[in-house]
Amino acid sequence: MKATDKKLVVGLEVGTSKVLALVGEVLPDGIVNIIGVGHCPSKGVDKGGVNDLESVVKSIQRAVDQAELMADCQISSVYLALSGKHIRCQNEIGMVPIAAEEVSVDDVENVVHTAKSVRILDEHRILHVIAQEYSIDLQEGIKNPIGLSGVRMKSKVHLITCHNDMAKNIVKAVERCGLKVDQLIFSGLASSYAVLTDDEKELGACVIDIGGGTMDISVYTGGALRHSVVIPYAGNVVTSDIAYAFGTPPMDAENIKIKYGCATGALVGKDEVIDVPSVGGRPSRTLQRQTLADVIEPRYTELLSLVQKELATLQEGLKQQNVKHQLAAGIVLTGGASQIKGLVECAEKVFHNQVRIGYPLNISGLTDYVQKPYCSTTVGLLHYGKQSILNDDDRVKDKASIKGLAKRVTGWFKKEF
Ligand SMILES: Nc1ncnc2c1ncn2[C@@H]1O[C@H](COP(=O)(O)OP(=O)(O)OP(=O)(O)O)[C@@H](O)[C@H]1O
Ligand SMILES: [Mg+2]
Repeated sequence: MKATDKKLVVGLEVGTSKVLALVGEVLPDGIVNIIGVGHCPSKGVDKGGVNDLESVVKSIQRAVDQAELMADCQISSVYLALSGKHIRCQNEIGMVPIAAEEVSVDDVENVVHTAKSVRILDEHRILHVIAQEYSIDLQEGIKNPIGLSGVRMKSKVHLITCHNDMAKNIVKAVERCGLKVDQLIFSGLASSYAVLTDDEKELGACVIDIGGGTMDISVYTGGALRHSVVIPYAGNVVTSDIAYAFGTPPMDAENIKIKYGCATGALVGKDEVIDVPSVGGRPSRTLQRQTLADVIEPRYTELLSLVQKELATLQEGLKQQNVKHQLAAGIVLTGGASQIKGLVECAEKVFHNQVRIGYPLNISGLTDYVQKPYCSTTVGLLHYGKQSILNDDDRVKDKASIKGLAKRVTGWFKKEF
């Protein structure tokens, strides 16, 4: 079959550590079949921001070329991840009278649209508008209001905003490669699409994507997204701690971390020793693996404690608003830096809650490459893109909503449901 006959989506994450492009084919059962992978070390990006446009363009081009070659297709547009501490969120309410007797698709679009008309930070723009729940007259907690009767409908929505220029710069880098951006998507939202189940969203769960430069966080309770935030510290600070503690070059520190690192000292055997290269041509030394864990464990504990603090404040706020605040399904850690040994044990001590490592779900094809925590954001972009394709299919079928379709498309900032 020719690649052009298939429904293809492409996801691109330009991270602090790596650029990853994935080509996925949307299968009718909602699974995304991964048919192309392009991966290269990232240069010129830090904590979600572009600081060397030329280098970033080169990295993107390399990753995209690789993915095209493997998938045997030509990539013309991508779903693009966006992160950085400029990402903000706010929960808002929209309200509309129900036009006819029953709630229509247009009513739902309108109510979500009115929730968007609020003040956001200067120089920011809205990245996502995600419905949480609806209420019609006195009935609250409605997930899908279409077809229900009533006079007035309210919707609670979660808005995610980003700094205009930060978004523009990353889009510019992608466009320099001759690619169009289908849509920009908050990395943390994308990761949650890849690793969380619906049951976990319902029970309450927090996804933390720990990358090289940022921790991208999404919190769900009662089946709805409640909080999105980025903390600008992640795996790279652990590497830098190791480099300083042992006077070893950063590249070696990175290798040692990946090979021997452990985030729970108690799991390391007492007599295990490792070789540590030195700087300036000095001979390498041997070290207790325990000593390495003594550097890593406190730093991960500190990183996760930053998230725990954020969660405590959020949960207090939700409780006061009478919104479900428990995280009964616990914490899901994903991203490259979640791959360190002993992290679940370390995190359970911080959160006093259950913790698991999140691997991308609902994919087939090149799973040997892609079913890894560091691919979660990019796989999530494919799931996000899949949703848009399936929605558009439905809309084209449904003639009544053609008007809605024309209204809906506004380039790479698109609203959603
Ligand atoms: N096995 C491992 N053990 C510990 N850390 C690891 C391991 N593999 C990768 N990492 C760390 O994961 C980080 C990279 O993760 P990832 O690929 O998710 O980052 P990224 O998406 O490029 O960055 P970001 O999203 O923060 O911009 C690096 O800090 C790296 O040291
Ligand atoms: Mg990342």
